[in-house]
Formats: sequence, C-alpha cells, structure tokens
Amino acid sequence: PRSYSITLLPGDGIGPEVVSVAKDILSFLILWSAPENLRSFACVSAGIEFCYNEMPMGGAAIDAVGVPLPEETLAAAKQSDAVLLGAIGGYKWDGNEKLLKPETGLLQLRAGLGVFANLRPATVWPQLVDSSTLKKEVAEGVDLIVIRELTGGIYFGEPRGFGTNDKGEDFGFNTEIYSTFEIDRIARVAFEVARKRQSKLCSVDKANVLEASMLWRRRVNEIASEYSDVQLSHMYVDNAAMQLIRDPRQFDTIVTNNIFGDILSDEASIITGSIGMLPSASISGSGPGLFEPIHGSAPDIAGQDKANPLATVLSAAMLLRYGLGEENAARRIEAAVIETLNKGFRTSDIHSSGMVLVGSKRMGEEVLKSVDSQKPIA
Ligand code: NAD
Ligand code: IPM
Ligand code: MN
Repeated sequence: PRSYSITLLPGDGIGPEVVSVAKDILSFLILWSAPENLRSFACVSAGIEFCYNEMPMGGAAIDAVGVPLPEETLAAAKQSDAVLLGAIGGYKWDGNEKLLKPETGLLQLRAGLGVFANLRPATVWPQLVDSSTLKKEVAEGVDLIVIRELTGGIYFGEPRGFGTNDKGEDFGFNTEIYSTFEIDRIARVAFEVARKRQSKLCSVDKANVLEASMLWRRRVNEIASEYSDVQLSHMYVDNAAMQLIRDPRQFDTIVTNNIFGDILSDEASIITGSIGMLPSASISGSGPGLFEPIHGSAPDIAGQDKANPLATVLSAAMLLRYGLGEENAARRIEAAVIETLNKGFRTSDIHSSGMVLVGSKRMGEEVLKSVDSQKPIA
C-alpha cells in the first residue's frame, strides 16, 4: 500500500470534535480502498495506509507544556506527509502575552512549514442554497476560491510592538510589508490555480493608499505577462467586500494579501451557508502542506456535539488531493459529503425546514456510510 504519515493537531474548542470525525473518515478509506473481497477484515489494508501522529497545539499545548507550538509538534509536522489541524484559541488564553497566545502558535506553524499559499474555496452547493444569507438568485452557482498569502504582510511584518509617545500615551503598531519575492510566488500560484478554473483572476489590494499594495499590483501585472491566457483584473478591498455580497458569481479566483484574505474568506464563507463548510489547504510547493477548516475554535458551541464537521472533512479531502496526490480518494470524500447533504442531514448551522437535524458525530457517521456505499477504487 501507499503509506502516509499524517500529523493531527486537534487543538482547542470544537477542534478535537471535528478532527475526530475527519480522522474516522480517513481511516475508513484504508478499508474502503482494499479489494472488495478483503474489506470485511479490518486488519487488511491495500491501496492507501495512514499512520497518525497526534500532537498538542494551541491552548491545549500551553496548558500541557507551556507553549502554543512545542518544538516536538513542529518537528513532527515537518517530518510527516501532511498536517490536519482543527482549530486553536479560546477565552481562557485571550489575555495571554503575545508569545503565549494559541494564535501565535498557529502563525509559527504556518511560518515553520513555509506554507505561503492558502487556498480557500467557497462553493455554494445546490443542496445548501437555502441556507445562504443571500437571496437564492444571488447565491446560486457561486464557485470561487480565495488565494490568501499566508506567511507575510502585517501578520509578520517588523517593526511591530507597543510603545509610549511623548504625550505619555500608549500605542501599538504593526507593519504591512511585502517583497517582490513574496508577491511573485503567490501571484504565480494564483495564476496557476485560475488557469485550471475559469481563467479569471481578480487581485484584491488597497493600492490607492498602501505602498505594499502599490508594489503588489505592479508585480501582479508583471507576472501576468507569463499567463496571457488568464484574464486579470484588480479591485480595491473595500469594493471587493461589497461586490462579494452584491454579485459573488462575478468572481472565479481571488488573490490577496494575508489580512484581506482572512477577512474576505470569512465573508465568502457565509454565502455558502456556513463557515462550518469551508475547508482550506496551505501549501509551500515542497514539504508537507497544512490543512484546516477556515473557522476557529467556536467556544460558544464547543463540547456540545453541535459543530459542523464538514469543513474539516473537506479539508481532509484537500489533504488527499493537494498534500498526497490521492485525487480519487479526495473525490470519494467529496462525493460522500454531497450524498449526505442530498439525504437531508444537517448540523444546526445549515439546518432548514424539512431537513434532518444532527450533531457532529452523527454527521460524521452519515458521511462514513456514504463512503462505504461507494464502490472501491478500481
Ligand atoms: P469562530 O470561527 O471560532 O466562530 C465564529 C462563529 O461561527 C461562532 O458563532 C461559531 O459558533 C460559528 N462556527 C465556527 N465554526 C463552526 C462550525 N464548524 N460549525 C458551526 N458553527 C461554527 O471565530 P471567533 O469566535 O472569532 O474565534 C474564536 C476563537 O477561535 C478565537 O480564539 C480565535 O482566535 C480562534 N480562531 C482560530 C482559527 C484557527 O484555528 N484557524 C481561526 C479563526 C479563529
Ligand atoms: C484563520 C484565523 C487565524 C488568522 C488566526 C486564528 C491567527 O483567523 O485561520 O483564518 O488570522 O489567520
Ligand atoms: Mn480567519
């Protein structure tokens, strides 16, 4: 069998709940990818094989060993074939100093793995069009992807920090900074992705005000000459936020910086019905990728078996596709998710009248049943 090692980072809040669902489905693939006559023997595997390494991360790691990204966790992630993360963060650690925040651990992990390109697809599935906060005519058929630069910009820019001015007032400051190298490489990823889709790329920036955006726009135009088959446009981020809600179907591929991508992808998610549906893949081009839902640890619903696990299940599908090159297995998971939605199963965030309200675990079991009912890989 093709054997892969996967680092699991459940994290905090609903993280462990949704990762456990995704893990069960990945594990089931082993059995399912075995020849049909052998599938009844749980110990027999063929096709794909996974070995998991579950490591502490985020608030859970702070509590266990005192830091949000222990060295052992980063080392394990680097040595594995792919990393699946749930979510990190929570009220308990909100007051911590910068280095002891769960969020700092996540940024260290992204930087440590060098995963500069974050792919966040937002698809309005026909089954969920009624769960969208937008009118059906507006939401229907939306299929876009936000390519978010993930290891640069204001999240990482120096100088940063706190100070006191000559009037004795405290201030906090950050630096939005992008080099040509950073812009060129994310632009190339975006053009490549756009090329495989509708060949329409919209670069979102604030080039009317910010120098980092002025350079961004100049470099994206420069790189565009290598991709004459892709139709490139530019949009200011404030207008983009409005256009996403006014007419989201105008977008195919969006490329933007770290902070604008963070905000616009949450906005795009709700067009699809729920943030609990949006997966992501973060890749570097070499080395293991990081796969995580775009949502957070949702402390308001943690521990209640209410979280929608599909964003994480779909992140596992992205892990198979972009992280391991197992396209068939990825499609099987996605098909099983669609079938489960077709059968009417809904967690509360995407529930609408006439549908079957289920919790996280049950949703996972239903996806599993759908994987099971598919034919094994030929
Ligand atoms: P959040 O994404 O955790 O939650 C926002 C809202 O969406 C909440 O009402 C929540 O219940 C709901 N929601 C989120 N995921 C859901 C799911 N799978 N199913 C159903 N509903 C879901 O954002 P927040 O409340 O701003 O942040 C909470 C914590 O998570 C903070 O500590 C934040 O820093 C952290 N966070 C972590 C990540 C990450 O780990 N990648 C991402 C965003 C926020
Ligand atoms: C996300 C989150 C993170 C981000 C936080 C938790 C650091 O919001 O993954 O979208 O801002 O990137
Ligand atoms: Mn975010």
